Amino acid sequence: MVTNEIQAVKIDDDIPLHVAALVGCGVTTGFGAAVRVADVEPGDTVVVVGAGGVGMNAVQGARIAGASQIVAVDPGEYKREQAAKFGAHHTATSVEEAYDLVQDITRGVGADKAIICVGVVRGDIIGPVMSLVAKAGRVVVTGVSPMNDDQVTLSLFDLAMMNKELVGHIFGEQRAIADFPRIFSLYKEGSLRLDELVTRTYKLDQINDGWDDMREGRNIRGLIRF
Ligand SMILES: NC(=O)c1ccc[n+]([C@@H]2O[C@H](COP(=O)([O-])OP(=O)(O)OC[C@H]3O[C@@H](n4cnc5c(N)ncnc54)[C@H](O)[C@@H]3O)[C@@H](O)[C@H]2O)c1
Repeated sequence: MVTNEIQAVKIDDDIPLHVAALVGCGVTTGFGAAVRVADVEPGDTVVVVGAGGVGMNAVQGARIAGASQIVAVDPGEYKREQAAKFGAHHTATSVEEAYDLVQDITRGVGADKAIICVGVVRGDIIGPVMSLVAKAGRVVVTGVSPMNDDQVTLSLFDLAMMNKELVGHIFGEQRAIADFPRIFSLYKEGSLRLDELVTRTYKLDQINDGWDDMREGRNIRGLIRF
């Protein structure tokens, strides 16, 4: 791969390459979405919508930042099961189902932070996720939308009068040169679970099986070894 030298980060010899491959994008984005963009604080209630390769690391970031209650929302049963292993205390199959759950566990107050990590973000998910957070709550948009999507539905009254924030970001606002070593340290001390993100490995000639498993939601991450 041809890359600019400022984008290359030297890693220690004891970091396995399958771990380094994950940190190059999804791990860093999800982790940074929680710890830097959402700025999760000890005691927070955090909702992660979409528990795939990125969202699972937002769950882990929220856990490491000290969140008291983490809710993972995903229609996939396997993703919800796995989310519990990465730190989610509660799961829901949809944002609508999460609303009642969040109201219940926060005694009607709402979550502090919500992080949208679904595979394709559509404008009609923003309003319902904004309704999950409490007054002064923050919603972080991590997932990407089609480039020509420009319609969003949300309560503008609620945005201003409930002092809410809606923020986007790229790459979890992380800087590879400074933040990769921190992420690898958390992996080495056992708090960031990265080996467990790889559900299956494939040889290069099995790449189509990998695509199928990804489309069917059977993997957190599929890894091709060659
Ligand atoms: N902002 C950035 O810098 C950045 C960086 C990397 C990836 N991304 C984006 O993050 C998103 C997630 O990537 P990924 O690799 O984790 O994808 P993924 O396919 O592994 O995970 C997406 C998850 O969203 C779930 N999902 C889909 N619709 C949902 C809904 N309505 N409610 C709840 N869950 C839903 C799916 O079941 C799946 O588990 C993508 O849009 C990707 O392009 C953004």
